[in-house]
Amino acid sequence: VFQLAWHTPAEWVARVCEHPLALLSDHAHCELKAAASAQGLILRAPGAGGLVARMAEIAQEEMEHFARVVAEIHRRGGELAPVTENPYARGLLARASDYAPRTDLLSRLVVAGLIEARSLERFWLLAEHAPDRELAALYRALLPSEAAHRGLFFGLARELCGRAEADARIAELTAAEGELMRGLAFAPRMHSGFEPEVA
Ligand SMILES: [Fe+2]
Ligand SMILES: [Fe+2]
Repeated sequence: VFQLAWHTPAEWVARVCEHPLALLSDHAHCELKAAASAQGLILRAPGAGGLVARMAEIAQEEMEHFARVVAEIHRRGGELAPVTENPYARGLLARASDYAPRTDLLSRLVVAGLIEARSLERFWLLAEHAPDRELAALYRALLPSEAAHRGLFFGLARELCGRAEADARIAELTAAEGELMRGLAFAPRMHSGFEPEVA
């Protein structure tokens, strides 16, 4: 249903929910990055009218999500933690550059769609299984927007780069994403894996 090559076990939720503030801070930074990446796509393809209008909307939505997550951190008495290096994003971009240069529009759209797809899976798991009811409610509320984003990025990839080429890259990078996520260590963050933490 999430069109991912590897599915996160539900037990991931119990582990990550032991660290709600760390999870929320990492998530807030993901929203901020998503807004920045939508702006980056505008800079990359200013002449693509459909892309520019939709990325402008996405950037705004992601900033709303950011504000909402930060408000939840403050409500819990916490503060937004400094951003840290993200092994998931680094790994995904490295794998995407096996297929095309880092600046390639198709890869950037597909990577953005895959991050939305993985986020959607994680939000759904948290909405269903988080023992913390407020946390579950927050993730349930964010689900529809991220579901729409996944479809939008893949749709733009097909529209701008052709269906056959887009679908081939989506299939390749979906497999690469699954392989990456399967091997990632657990950490209290949105896109962590389920492997034992290395001491
Ligand atoms: Fe978002
Ligand atoms: Fe999104």
